[in-house]
Amino acid sequence: MKRVFSGIQPTGSLHLGNYLGAIKQWIELQNKVDESIFCVVDLHAITVDRDPMLAENILSVAAWYLACGVDLSKSKIFIQSTRPEHAELAWILNCFATVGELGRMTQYKEKSEGKRDSVSAGLFDYPVLMAADILLYQTTDVPVGEDQKQHVELARDLAIRFNNKYQGVFTVPEPIIREDVERVRALDNPSKKMAKSAGSEYNYIALDDTPDVIRKKISRAVTDSGSEIVIREDKPAMTNLLNIFSGVSGRDIRSLEADFKGRGYGEFKKALAEEIILFLEPKQKKYREIIADKAKLRTILRDGSEAVAPIAQKTLDEVKKKIGLGI
Ligand code: TYM
Repeated sequence: MKRVFSGIQPTGSLHLGNYLGAIKQWIELQNKVDESIFCVVDLHAITVDRDPMLAENILSVAAWYLACGVDLSKSKIFIQSTRPEHAELAWILNCFATVGELGRMTQYKEKSEGKRDSVSAGLFDYPVLMAADILLYQTTDVPVGEDQKQHVELARDLAIRFNNKYQGVFTVPEPIIREDVERVRALDNPSKKMAKSAGSEYNYIALDDTPDVIRKKISRAVTDSGSEIVIREDKPAMTNLLNIFSGVSGRDIRSLEADFKGRGYGEFKKALAEEIILFLEPKQKKYREIIADKAKLRTILRDGSEAVAPIAQKTLDEVKKKIGLGI
């Protein structure tokens, strides 16, 4: 039995990195596996600054899941904080994770740099909550971007550690990462990843950016020296832009390289902007329809939460029984 689980934090706008690194794979996988569960991971979103827009963002992320093609006849969507099993299993797994391994998590190290004594304990503990999300549902496949690979590996380690001590319970999950778009880079700095938390809006293309904003952001995107439009190690900016072009158009890189041979960066960027606009327009239209009916969206999320409850409760009950918790 193959079960997919993945999630996105409701912190600010979703962007093309989220789509190409994660959601695109979800949509493909939901047709191939037995069951898919996509979660809006709101408990993860409170580890850093509290966002006054959190409640709106939660619904917005859920609406984007549906607008991008999550199909409710194959997949469930729900909000993490509506299932108490996540926080409960996270506590138990905390007692199996070590301070050393959590301290080695790259994301924690980056986000806490220079302020280690003042970041929340939640930021440090965040990968354990993510492991709980995954392990509660006996997940086999976790489609994510490359930046989350280390966290999925921690979930694997914790599952194996627990299973060795208590003779089973958890399925050991596999990260599913697309090689071509494992890390969509920032438009203004291809040495960094495209990120919601970026200081500048020229870092990313948000899924809800208007055509004019998209044109402006792509025209301002950093390019490499020279003028060739090719994927090459010494051309990180063009590599990124070509990967994005391929990701949104479905065209393969070689044919794009051939098409743009001898044409300048300017022409390429114009074509890329139009391709992104074409790709996002129908999704934006669908998003607007879905978000217009919040009552319906809330019902979908409540139904999803109820539908996944038996899986989560069963796992948690088994875990507690193995350890000897409760009566
Ligand atoms: P988050 O919310 O930062 O990102 C959501 C998904 O988008 C991917 N992603 C990217 N992929 C390629 N290039 C990029 N520039 C880029 N930026 C983001 C991420 O890899 C991720 O797949 N901890 C997770 C959320 C989470 C989760 C889980 C995921 C919580 N519990 C359980 C899977 C399973 C996070 O913060 O992702």
